[in-house]
Amino acid sequence: MGALLQLKEVTKAFGSLRVLDALDLDIDQGEIRGLIGPNGAGKTTLFNVIAGALRGDQGVITLDGSEVTRLGCADRCRRGLARTFQVPKLFVGMTVLENAEVAALFGNPEHQSRSEAVARARWALDLAGIGELAGAKASVLTTGQRKMLELARAIATGAKLLLLDEVMAGLNPTELQHACDSLRALQATGFTILMVEHVMQALMSLSHRVSVLFNGKIIMTDVPERVACDPRVTEAYLGKSRGVA
Ligand SMILES: Nc1ncnc2c1ncn2[C@@H]1O[C@H](COP(=O)(O)OP(=O)(O)OP(=O)(O)O)[C@@H](O)[C@H]1O
Ligand SMILES: [Mg+2]
Repeated sequence: MGALLQLKEVTKAFGSLRVLDALDLDIDQGEIRGLIGPNGAGKTTLFNVIAGALRGDQGVITLDGSEVTRLGCADRCRRGLARTFQVPKLFVGMTVLENAEVAALFGNPEHQSRSEAVARARWALDLAGIGELAGAKASVLTTGQRKMLELARAIATGAKLLLLDEVMAGLNPTELQHACDSLRALQATGFTILMVEHVMQALMSLSHRVSVLFNGKIIMTDVPERVACDPRVTEAYLGKSRGVA
């Protein structure tokens, strides 16, 4: 299968800090790709540049065969790319269903009736495993439920590529299991997922391949088993004396 997302020599600096340095990355259609790297390596920056929230300084980004480098977030979203935020950005005064409905309308504003948006929102909530919370106010959700609503909103946009920034952070073991089940179900449904996750066990068990971001570049992309025991990765990611577990 071909690359759904392709980055060629993408560079992003904040002042003199070159966070992404001529970075190349290919994500294949239908895969779950893990992205790891130490704190501050630039994972969220990379997501922002892919999603269009930040403009890269150089480089080319291609989504499903079309260049999107100069498009903003909304246009990239309508072309099938949605992301979650490390800290959920929900409409807390709205219900869970309304939050997902707004995302459904945002992802497809022109060719969708309200009832279609509601149907898409319910489908997304079910896929994220929080369908039974549809009527609850977003403000009463637990951290784990908020994360799953973030995921549902990304799904509801109609995206085919989901960028998930630490959706498992702060989940209890039961929520973690549900989140893993939801991501596997999404992949089986045809979604492509690029995920940043510090919950290493979940990331390693879900990802087909894992890419490692360090010093502005992807230093390795391989199956989780090989990444976990590669000395370059343990050095970059956790320091010399510890393993990735
Ligand atoms: N808007 C910004 N302005 C200036 N510096 C920034 C900005 N955003 C991020 N940085 C810096 O860029 C570097 C990468 O940050 P980023 O948040 O992308 O890392 P990360 O890999 O997501 O880290 P974490 O694992 O802690 O979430 C950090 O040194 C950070 O301080
Ligand atoms: Mg981050």
